[in-house]
Amino acid sequence: MDPIGIVRLGDENFEFPIMEGTEAERAIDLRTLRSKTGYIAFDEGYGNTGSCESGITFINGEKGILRHRGYPIEQLAEQSSFLETAYLIIYGELPSEVALKAFERNILSNATLDGKMYPIFEGFHQDSHPMAMLSSIINSLCTYHSEYATNNRKVDLEHFDAASSILMSKARTIAAMIYRKKMGLPMMDSDPSKSYSEDFLSMLLSKPEVPYVDTCGASKALDLFFLLHADHEQNCSTSTVRMVASSGTNLFSSISAGISALWGPSHGGANMAVIEMLEAIHATGDDGTGFIEAAKSGQAKLMGFGHRVYKNYDPRAKILGKSAVSVLEKIGINDPLLDIARRLERAALEDDYFVQRKLYPNVDFYSGIILKAIGIPVEFFTVMFALGRIPGWMANWKEIAENPKSRIHRPRQIYTGHNERNFVKIDKRS
Ligand code: SDX
Repeated sequence: MDPIGIVRLGDENFEFPIMEGTEAERAIDLRTLRSKTGYIAFDEGYGNTGSCESGITFINGEKGILRHRGYPIEQLAEQSSFLETAYLIIYGELPSEVALKAFERNILSNATLDGKMYPIFEGFHQDSHPMAMLSSIINSLCTYHSEYATNNRKVDLEHFDAASSILMSKARTIAAMIYRKKMGLPMMDSDPSKSYSEDFLSMLLSKPEVPYVDTCGASKALDLFFLLHADHEQNCSTSTVRMVASSGTNLFSSISAGISALWGPSHGGANMAVIEMLEAIHATGDDGTGFIEAAKSGQAKLMGFGHRVYKNYDPRAKILGKSAVSVLEKIGINDPLLDIARRLERAALEDDYFVQRKLYPNVDFYSGIILKAIGIPVEFFTVMFALGRIPGWMANWKEIAENPKSRIHRPRQIYTGHNERNFVKIDKRS
């Protein structure tokens, strides 16, 4: 007999099916709750609500487990590359050598922008935030590649491979162009003979007449950074992509909405906030103790700590913590911020306030130290997160588009406004 859940409302019992996922996670299937009972479920922030069934990424927050299509993040970080993991996340299986080469070729040869896009960059103020520019310009891709952005699901799915290569590749070019425009530097062309990450660093950091040369493993560190950010189940920005995709919106515009959601300091903006926090602590000469006390009293947040799902160490933070040490050693930098981060981590992991609330370092805690060491300006840290997350966002868009039963996301609410009242003409208002 299929398991059922019983909800007792007043003196009536209502039965609902129980769903069970691959890893034995369980849910009460409430899709008939309102029609059966007249009630809705209320779960502000959706911390207890499953919005979809998905086969892309599995997280066990209590155990600190993260897997993409069944493969543990530790194995992918150790043995795979960003593009190979992106292929896995998007298409569901590790690629053959031939398939990977074709996937890489489609992306690496697709970096050039339509020349008509260039004036868009000129239309922004010099101090425009890169995330605002990235979201806007990524959205504009749907006008330059409109044959892949028809908002007709069947047509857009047929062109998904082409559209996703364009997005994966041109997002790098757009990010590099945003940076170079802000720095007053001429645009650098892509070199498809380089790896994804090395070509990006070259487009970003080459000086006129002085091409960028990776002498310290920066592109390998950036590739690992991108890989570790590639997908993360139904986080705020991915849920936003699914919300927008659920109405039938094309891939480019759905990803643009995800970029805007990622920008917030509680989500992808935290990697910038971590560096700003560490620099502020460094500037005051505090060894971190004062800041921890401020965080405990609610006067500050220990940015890069805490997570809605992980109530254990974020496995990505562990890997990034090690990568930060090795990148700094290779580059020969002794960054005081790493020492402060280490001290904060040790102090927090022993302090009851953090232990009781199960607050551990998350993906953002060490990532900024790596980005800073390889020369990425702080203002661009969240842009890096966005570039890494694009495969996950696209895989979720594809999962919705391929599901013939997918419905438009339209949550309900509990209304707390005025009861009915009559309109009063302006000359009669108090
Ligand atoms: C990402 O969802 C994903 O998967 C996201 C992500 C991904 O890959 O997509 O993993 C990437 O966004 C990581 C998170 C990056 N954000 C930060 O590092 C910002 C700092 N963290 C917090 O803002 C917070 O931990 C959140 C937003 C991440 C989670 O918030 P929740 O789950 O809503 O938790 P909460 O705010 O309800 O906090 C519970 C308690 C509160 O204290 P009490 O009310 O119980 O007294 O913990 C406290 C909070 O004040 N708390 C913190 C804290 N985080 C939570 N106290 C100090 N410092 C913190 N960082």
